Amino acid sequence: MTPHIESNKEDIAKTVIMPGDPLRAKMIAEKYLTDYKLVNSVRNQLAYTGYYKGKRVTVFSSGMGNPSMGIYSYELFNFYDVEEIIRVGSCGAFDKDLDLYEIVLVDNSYSKSNYLEELTDEVNNILSSNNDLNRQILDTANKLKIDVNYANVYCTDVFYNHVDIDYLRENYNCIATEMETFALFSNAMKLNKKASAILTVSDNLITHEETTSEERQNSFNKMIELALESIK
Ligand code: HPA
Repeated sequence: MTPHIESNKEDIAKTVIMPGDPLRAKMIAEKYLTDYKLVNSVRNQLAYTGYYKGKRVTVFSSGMGNPSMGIYSYELFNFYDVEEIIRVGSCGAFDKDLDLYEIVLVDNSYSKSNYLEELTDEVNNILSSNNDLNRQILDTANKLKIDVNYANVYCTDVFYNHVDIDYLRENYNCIATEMETFALFSNAMKLNKKASAILTVSDNLITHEETTSEERQNSFNKMIELALESIK
């Protein structure tokens, strides 16, 4: 038990899939896992542990934003001996040709967040995802014939921000934006664990096309299958 997680240690798997939305965690468990059980409902931050094709996995919702992702991923890595976390979430595209529902595998996360500095005293604004996990994900995508954009994202603390998209594209090669990878990758770096992130484009900041929240909740199957098939 931690201040935010009521699970017993043995009820959390070494591999965790992390959607932002608690209801998406429930949907993933119900649709894809066998022999699953609810292992956390503190603050409705739903988590389930079960099996995907014989592989034991926990699906744990992170909530929105770096602070929330920061708390849950830290506690999972540090107190539950979780070895790897794959975030599955949504992002807003910075490129008019990056269509709704396309998949982005995060290479680096660029952020102005001070999460890493408060965690470690180190100052760094660009953090990498894990190469081993990315290799597994890219190999699996290849096998399943799923197109993946392997690229950098901008991780913001402010959804209603005013970003200079051209600046982020030109200087940091960011093709999309989201709000959780920087805390996740910071925790993985500090605690010597593995973390990666697979995202689906839910809106395009150039063309202003967007999905509805209902479509968002139900249309991420391809990304979730990619995550679940990638784990060992
Ligand atoms: N901004 C930040 N995070 C997001 C967005 C966005 O436009 N879309 C999905 N996650």
